[in-house]
Amino acid sequence: MVESDVVMGQCWRDVADVLEAGVRRVLLYGPPGTGKTYAALKLGVSGGISERLVCTEDLTTGEITGTWMPAGAGKWEWREGPAIRAWSGSAGRGGRLVVDEVDRASGDALSTLLAITDSTDSARWRNPETGQWVKPGPDFSVVMTTNIEELEDIPVALRDRFPVAVRIDRPHPHAVAVLSEDLQAAALNGSFGDAERRVSLRSFYAFDQLRRALGAPRAARLLFGEIGATAILDALAIGALE
Ligand SMILES: Nc1ncnc2c1ncn2[C@@H]1O[C@H](COP(=O)(O)OP(=O)(O)OP(=O)(O)O)[C@@H](O)[C@H]1O
Ligand SMILES: [Mg+2]
Repeated sequence: MVESDVVMGQCWRDVADVLEAGVRRVLLYGPPGTGKTYAALKLGVSGGISERLVCTEDLTTGEITGTWMPAGAGKWEWREGPAIRAWSGSAGRGGRLVVDEVDRASGDALSTLLAITDSTDSARWRNPETGQWVKPGPDFSVVMTTNIEELEDIPVALRDRFPVAVRIDRPHPHAVAVLSEDLQAAALNGSFGDAERRVSLRSFYAFDQLRRALGAPRAARLLFGEIGATAILDALAIGALE
């Protein structure tokens, strides 16, 4: 399906074009709840696998590349982590690795991420069970996401591995299309008319669901508070008149 740039939004068009052009390291950044993670898991992943890694301050190297797990009777077995699965998935060709909240990675985990996301020619990792050297398959790609607005806040060595960074400033149109029709225009704008007050996709989904059970006024009050609810109900009433 070909969608016009107006419907699609320039940012989503950029993401699709960049991936289609064969760029395999992309950073998506911007406000929460626009569909960055969803797109990272799906876009340009035809038939292959997607592995997801969520960075926290406590993320360990083991959670990225793998760990030894007790297998009973005093034995241990090696359990591959998501990064190595993504390197070698799809019969050795490699799949997609999604690294969410990448600004939170630090210490050992950051060093490991640097190694994992290095260019395919130089990336190498030694499997501790077999002793074999493993490298990423030719189709391996990484999409990182973050809510950070200043790219300088991302460690420079990591940033350097991701030359293409796209600021996602609006929800993905497919995500908006699953909402009730009267909410779609507002959801695409990311607000109910008041630009100061951003309303995320997740809030729109919750409102759509909750109002079916509780009615719009109560759903709005529960989700957006007394003041927010008035603005939203007004906006919806005007929309309905139009
Ligand atoms: N293309 C899509 N089609 C259908 N649903 C979608 C689509 N994109 C996103 N969604 C839904 O919208 C919600 C928010 O999406 P997602 O988690 O990808 O946002 P995000 O930009 O990663 O947010 P955050 O920055 O907070 O991590 C999710 O419930 C997701 O399932
Ligand atoms: Mg996300």
